[in-house]
Amino acid sequence: KKIYIVAGARPNFMKIAPIVRALKTNNNLTYKIIHTGQHYDREMNEVFFEELGIPQPDTFMATGSGTHSQQTAKIMIAFEECCQTERPDAVLVVGDVNSTLACSIVAKKLSIPVAHVEAGLRSGDMTMPEEINRLVTDSISDWFFTTEPSATAHLRREGKLDSAIHHVGHVMVDNLLFQADKLARIDTTDFETSQFKTAQAAQGKQYGVITLHRPSNVDNSKMMHQIGSALMEIANELPLIFPVHPRTRSNLDKFNVDLGPNITLIGPQAYMAFLNLWKDAAVVLTDSGGLQEETTALGVPCITIRENTERPITVEQGSNVLAGTNPERIITEVRKILQNKGKRCCRPHLWDGKAAERIVAILAKELL
Ligand code: UD1
Repeated sequence: KKIYIVAGARPNFMKIAPIVRALKTNNNLTYKIIHTGQHYDREMNEVFFEELGIPQPDTFMATGSGTHSQQTAKIMIAFEECCQTERPDAVLVVGDVNSTLACSIVAKKLSIPVAHVEAGLRSGDMTMPEEINRLVTDSISDWFFTTEPSATAHLRREGKLDSAIHHVGHVMVDNLLFQADKLARIDTTDFETSQFKTAQAAQGKQYGVITLHRPSNVDNSKMMHQIGSALMEIANELPLIFPVHPRTRSNLDKFNVDLGPNITLIGPQAYMAFLNLWKDAAVVLTDSGGLQEETTALGVPCITIRENTERPITVEQGSNVLAGTNPERIITEVRKILQNKGKRCCRPHLWDGKAAERIVAILAKELL
């Protein structure tokens, strides 16, 4: 039986890496990697394939950026052709990006069963494009692989059969543990992030890491300035480093946001260089979904600059604090962490590096 594995945007690549590894060792399933082309710059795309050991995509669809409808439509047209040329027995989609939405719809309309990895997460925030992607994908998927109990509960509430929902843990954590182990054994001195760490250590200083790319935070001038003011205040006490997503980079310029001398701006980082940076940070400030979970998995304090999270286990059990976008609140939460008054963290059940193996075992049984 043949499975198409769909990946298109940066956070998809870490999730498919362990699934591909697990599929390689299964004799009953073959796979093809379909790259939708949603992310296309080298540092948003190829570097992850190289570093995470993902084989070259079997199909690369040069769809690129655009409005949501343009991007989704281009991916749908290209993926439909791909499925019609050679029909797979199942399509596996991960996460909640536009590629996830586009390819699940195409597969389902061709009566090809869909497996959704990281199913059931809900922020309840319909202004967030990912929430729409999650809801639509889950409304038509056949197998739901969940990372945390809240996701399983949402799917049940939405009427999915228990037999279709599998709480398997988190493939992104599989990848994280695998890569962290590799990082401990490689020479990192050439990383730009190592140079920053060395410079801080030489001055006896800790540091914090920022990532921001959610449209609700970075597409709006007032909000960018508001968050920027909190970050600058924090940077007076704790040097900050900010690997900047392309969307954020262009908006910082457009809105004339100057973050001052204590915040070091660098380009988007490859996986290892970024892990090398955040794993030793005093605090991570982010609006990413994945990083809330990765920091929980390694017990690094995390402050989420959003009003809600679709990953509540990171707050209930993990190191994550939902601070919203109010500058005073963000600053207060960072100070608590710096005064060692942060919370205790425990790694969630099944975040053990074996989620991909569980998924492949279930799919092999279901498809035979
Ligand atoms: C997408 C996902 C988001 C995920 C994020 C991680 C959706 C709805 N959003 O958001 O869930 O957290 O990826 O990065 O799918 N660009 C480049 N080079 C690239 C890719 C994008 O310069 O390789 C620029 C383009 O100007 C583009 C903009 O970034 O218009 C946004 O890219 P897009 O894929 O639309 O959304 P992201 O913000 O990356």
